[in-house]
Amino acid sequence: MKVSRRSAVEPFHAMDVLAEATRRRAQGRPVISMAVGQPAYPAPRAALDAARGALADGRIGYTEALGLAELRRGIAEYYRRHHRVEIDPARIAVTTGSSAGFNLAFLTLFDPGDRVAIARPGYPAYRNILAALGIETIEIGVSAENDFTITPESLEAAQSVFGKLSGILLASPANPTGTVTSRAHLKALADYCAERGIAFISDEIYHGLTFSGEETSALEITDEVVVINSFSKYYCMTGWRIGWMVLPESVVRPIERLSQSLYISAPEISQLAALAALGAREELDVHREAYRRNRDLLAARLPEIGFSIASPMDGAFYAYADVSRFTNDSMAFARRMLAETDVAATPGADFDPVDGHHTMRFSYAGSFDEMGEAVDRLARWLA
Ligand SMILES: Cc1ncc(COP(=O)(O)O)c(C=O)c1O
Repeated sequence: MKVSRRSAVEPFHAMDVLAEATRRRAQGRPVISMAVGQPAYPAPRAALDAARGALADGRIGYTEALGLAELRRGIAEYYRRHHRVEIDPARIAVTTGSSAGFNLAFLTLFDPGDRVAIARPGYPAYRNILAALGIETIEIGVSAENDFTITPESLEAAQSVFGKLSGILLASPANPTGTVTSRAHLKALADYCAERGIAFISDEIYHGLTFSGEETSALEITDEVVVINSFSKYYCMTGWRIGWMVLPESVVRPIERLSQSLYISAPEISQLAALAALGAREELDVHREAYRRNRDLLAARLPEIGFSIASPMDGAFYAYADVSRFTNDSMAFARRMLAETDVAATPGADFDPVDGHHTMRFSYAGSFDEMGEAVDRLARWLA
């Protein structure tokens, strides 16, 4: 059957590495997977109890397209408590993971041919979803020179080359760099976008996982922003597929219309579990502290084996390492590393088509013992 040109996006290599790691594990091999950004911990106990309650009741149905009213109120309460901002629950849309949030936001804010700026290195799905929708991606290289984040100056330079931008998308904490963008920086970006009619999308899916620096929601700065968040990372609920968006009022109804037809609603059982997870921060903060220990271990030991740390590690759970001492082909390196050490990590080429051939991303969302064992194996291999 003929397939569309728009479907010809790059594979998400991290998922391919995961598939190979899973295959090797099924053969009984002692695989340590640091390839995918997935917490090693189960969903919070209260979330599991809520899901069991829903199963016992047995009627799991559609919800309103924008989500259960209790969950939207619970998310508004989260912003009141943690960010000291009042958000009308009517501005909150519950989505099938933040991934559905990106589809909805891009479809609602942009037309084919529009230009949207993202950071390079950055989360590859942004680029792939934008491409599938016929939206041009403008990748802004981030490095130590610009604090690993998009700045008004870099946007200005990009616009002088490529023409007017319709939107920018920034993640903080960022994947794969771990950058936490400061409040001052976020404000400068929000102001720049507001003055020029550029839509500002803030991916806050790693909130709750900040190790140094201040964790600012763009909602503390402006209501003219689309904030995207998720229960996947801090809440340890990747497979439940629940995320949310906070929208400017003018965007709510268009998002609702599209959600009705694209998804009908996010899964009700997962929404009930997510509502319970909002109250489980004590349990979840313990996991964050475990990631912090992993982070400290990798920050110390990866450079010892020749993998210098290429970006800050201030948040999220990734070490982005420069492996140029060993390879100029991160894809082949990742495959060989998995085949010869049973340690899976993601080739930098996933995140950065220009400079990612000599970088690798290691997720440290696993257990401390696994992290130590993985570095021991790599040390032996490289020696
Ligand atoms: C920066 C970023 N945004 C969004 C996602 C998608 O997460 P989900 O669809 O599970 O909410 C990820 C997943 O790794 C990510 O790293």
